[in-house]
Amino acid sequence: MNDNTNFSNVDLYIQALTAQEDNDLLTARHLISQYKLPDQSISAVQGRMLQVFAKACGAKRILELGTFCGYSTLWLAKALPEDGRVVTLEYEEAHAGVARQNFCNTALEHKIEVRTGRAIEIMKDMVQDHEPPFDMIFIDADKPPYLEYFKMAVQLSRKGSIIVCDNVIRAGKILESNTDDAKVLGVQRLNNYLQHCTDVTATILQTVGTKEHDGMLLAVVN
Ligand code: SAH
Ligand code: DHB
Ligand code: MG
Repeated sequence: MNDNTNFSNVDLYIQALTAQEDNDLLTARHLISQYKLPDQSISAVQGRMLQVFAKACGAKRILELGTFCGYSTLWLAKALPEDGRVVTLEYEEAHAGVARQNFCNTALEHKIEVRTGRAIEIMKDMVQDHEPPFDMIFIDADKPPYLEYFKMAVQLSRKGSIIVCDNVIRAGKILESNTDDAKVLGVQRLNNYLQHCTDVTATILQTVGTKEHDGMLLAVVN
């Protein structure tokens, strides 16, 4: 058995024990698979990890960058109390459309707000409009401006808020020192910034499993 099969099987083992998809999540995944989109949704086990963090910080208000078809949004919404809210930002109308369809199929619709547009512009407006702080922010939109997203996320946080960023290891390509891959360069810029950033206490969790080798940046705001 090669490493990847082993990692994937162990991921499925963890999923069976802790992250079984309910009807909402299964239905969403089924609908997403019917569109010919590269599936950029997080895995079920990663969805469960987001729920653990949401509960750990008592999240009532969550911000997500990069809705795609709403699979991760559903995991987040399910970790919220009845009066909680997840605001999710998506640039592509087509993706937001599929996501809205997925939310309509559940009883979580009232907890989810989809805003379409460029994440950076929406976040700038939020800062200007004195949006109350978010308890948790999940960054998973386009990779080149990840550092800008992270800095804005800190501005939209409070002490103890949790910031999670997907895809910051990219199968180890972040080790390449002269890459011209804009996605790798984007996450390298953010990862390097952590070295001297005193705003947060952060680490990167390397992830293997049903998705390709990658990593999640985990930060708590100081
Ligand atoms: N969080 C999702 C996956 C997100 S994939 C999940 O796990 O289910 C990344 C998404 O970011 C894509 O849908 C893409 O259209 C969106 N995106 C790309 N650039 C963006 C931008 N500037 N602002 C907001 N969303 C953007
Ligand atoms: C890409 C984006 C994602 O959010 C992801 O989880 C995987 C890949 C991408 O743009 O390549
Ligand atoms: Mg991602």
